Formats: sequence, C-alpha cells, structure tokens
Amino acid sequence: MNKTRLAILFGGKSDEYSVSLHSAAAIIKNVPQDMFDVTLVGITRDGKWLHYEGTADRINDDTWHHEMLSPVILSMDNNFRGLIKLDEKGGTFEKIAIDCIFPVLHGKNGEDGTIQGLCQMTGIPFVGCGMTASAVSMDKEFTHAICERAGIRMAPYVRAARSGNLNVKKLYEESLEKLSLPMFIKPANNGSSLGISKIRNYNEFEKGIMEAFEYDDKVIIEKMIEGFEIGCAVVGNEELLIGEVDEIDTKNDFFDYVEKYSQHNSKIHCPARISDELKAEAKKTAEKTYRALGCKGLSRVDMFLAPDNTIYLNEINTIPGLTDLSRYPSMLKKIGIEYKDLIVKLVDLAMEGN
Ligand SMILES: Nc1ncnc2c1ncn2[C@@H]1O[C@H](COP(=O)(O)OP(=O)(O)O)[C@@H](O)[C@H]1O
Ligand SMILES: [Mg+2]
Repeated sequence: MNKTRLAILFGGKSDEYSVSLHSAAAIIKNVPQDMFDVTLVGITRDGKWLHYEGTADRINDDTWHHEMLSPVILSMDNNFRGLIKLDEKGGTFEKIAIDCIFPVLHGKNGEDGTIQGLCQMTGIPFVGCGMTASAVSMDKEFTHAICERAGIRMAPYVRAARSGNLNVKKLYEESLEKLSLPMFIKPANNGSSLGISKIRNYNEFEKGIMEAFEYDDKVIIEKMIEGFEIGCAVVGNEELLIGEVDEIDTKNDFFDYVEKYSQHNSKIHCPARISDELKAEAKKTAEKTYRALGCKGLSRVDMFLAPDNTIYLNEINTIPGLTDLSRYPSMLKKIGIEYKDLIVKLVDLAMEGN
C-alpha cells in the first residue's frame, strides 16, 4: 500500500501560534509512520512558510525555526498538487507531491477560512471544514445568525463595528436594556478567550470594548449565561460520530486564556457530571450546530448549561486543541476512538470521495 503523503502545517500568523505548536507536536509524534509520509511546514508568527525536518520537541518548545530553513509555497496549479521548496541561494526548486494537507492551525489564518480557501484552490484534500463553514464558525456574529435561524438557542447579543463615531455610552445603554448585567464583550473573530471581558459596570464596558477592538474590527456583546460550560466533540462528514460531553469546572470568573492552558483553578470533567437526558440533549445540539454550519471533518461544539437545565450554544471550534490531552481527543477517547486512530480518521475523512 502506498503511503499517504501528508503535509502538516503548524504555527501560523495567529495569536494562537503557540497553541498550534503543541497540537502539531502531539500529532507528529502519533502519526503512524507506516501509513504516512509526513512533510512539515512551519509558519512563523510573521507568516513565513518554511520546510522543517527536525523533531517534534523543537516544535513544542518553539525552537524549530532556530536553524536555516528553506521557504516553501503551496502550488496553486492543480496539475501539480504539492509544495514547491525553494533553494534561494542556488536559485533552484524542488517539488514535493502531497496527497492531503492537515492544517494544525488555530484562530486567525488557521480556522477562519483563509487557509481553507487556499487549500481548496490547490485541489489537494485537506483535514477539516471548508472555507465557508470555517469562516462562518469563526465569526461569532455569523454563527449567531445561522444557528439561531436553525432554531438553536444562544445568548441574546448586540453587535458593534469599529467606527470613528461609535458612541460607547449609547452602545452601553442599548446593551444594558437588551442584555442586562453582567455581560460579555468579545471580538467577533478570535479564540482562546483573547480580548474577552466580563462586564459589570460602565467602566468595565468602556475598557472591554477597547480591548476587544484590539483583536477585531467587530465585537459582540452577549448576555452572561449563568451555570457552567459543557462541550461535545463531533467527527465526520455526512455520517457523524458524537463524542462524550465534557464539563468545565472553573473557580475563575470565566474560562480565560491563562486558565485554558494552565488550569490552575479549573478542572475538565469528562464525562460531564450531568444527567443522561441532558447529555443526550447536548449531543443533539452539537450535531444540529455542526450540520447548520455545514461543518466537515471535525469540530468541538461549546455550550452552556444554565441552572434551569436549558442548553445554550456558545460557539463552535472547527480546529479545536488537538494535543493528546486536549478536550476534543479526550471526548472521543471515551467513545473508543484512540488518539492515533483519530488522526488516521481525520485524514480518511478529508480524502473521502477523492
Ligand atoms: N455569554 C456568555 N456567558 C457566560 N460566559 C461566557 C459567555 N461568553 C463567553 N463566556 C466565557 O468566555 C469564554 C470565552 O468565550 P468564547 O465565546 O468561547 O470565545 P473564544 O473563541 O475566545 O473561546 C468562554 O469559555 C466562557 O468562559
Ligand atoms: Mg471558546
């Protein structure tokens, strides 16, 4: 059997660059060598694409780019599907044929449809959602619009775009009337809780708006949902496998960036400590969200469970954290999908129909 020539993209011009390094290092260590011929492409924080041939550990500790590496570009010519490695000194190039691309990238330029559009242009199958599903799932306002139309409950919200004459006081009053306190302000497009604040008064609102605008030109303000967060892993194209439901137990104000990656004051319970009925309902919401947004391959659907047992969709992550200890693989492990098998499955799903 011929090995699948797999290009793994890691890093990325994104605030979640380092999250990607950890996800990619774990995938590289676990990808079955007898099935795949792996080419690694590291993308630096400033957007350089480099061919990397070193160890996964040097990706994990972010020293992978401390050596001279050759630039690579993705061929947009569908008659040659692969990468073109440039030897800038010698003025030569080398072609590396690729059967499948695995963009192990998070956040902007990773799961927002940009890289997916590029991959679609190459004609090479790639892991995960397509361009439109990725873009819509990344944008919290568009997620609201599509999912609410599909009958999925979400927190009431207000949106605001950056503009020279934005009246923050008026926006606060409008938000207060529609949402009441506390509220959450979030950049419409970002991840890992960056730029997100919990708002209890006008001063915090003013500061929160400024902070969110540092990450995006559009922000959304949401009513705070009491209760706690649950999540559910989904894998598949048309036929879906739904993972176990997990639960975030945090003592913090909310699941912020530091907590997400340190978990000093938080614990993830998988399975969630909720009734079977609620788990079933959460899985149904996850599946409905996935289908409404036209997802493919994989996604983690994040929800809130309110004290009255109502489930609200929070957001969907089309390339969730993918280390072997991350929430997404852990939820699938509980239904019998081991990490190594998950990697193979994701590539198989990408190549389905090709
Ligand atoms: N409406 C809300 N009610 C309660 N908590 C929220 C709300 N929106 C966000 N949060 C908190 O902020 C965290 C990050 O928000 P989220 O929308 O998931 O953004 P990100 O894409 O950065 O992960 C959530 O995990 C949750 O802890
Ligand atoms: Mg989130």
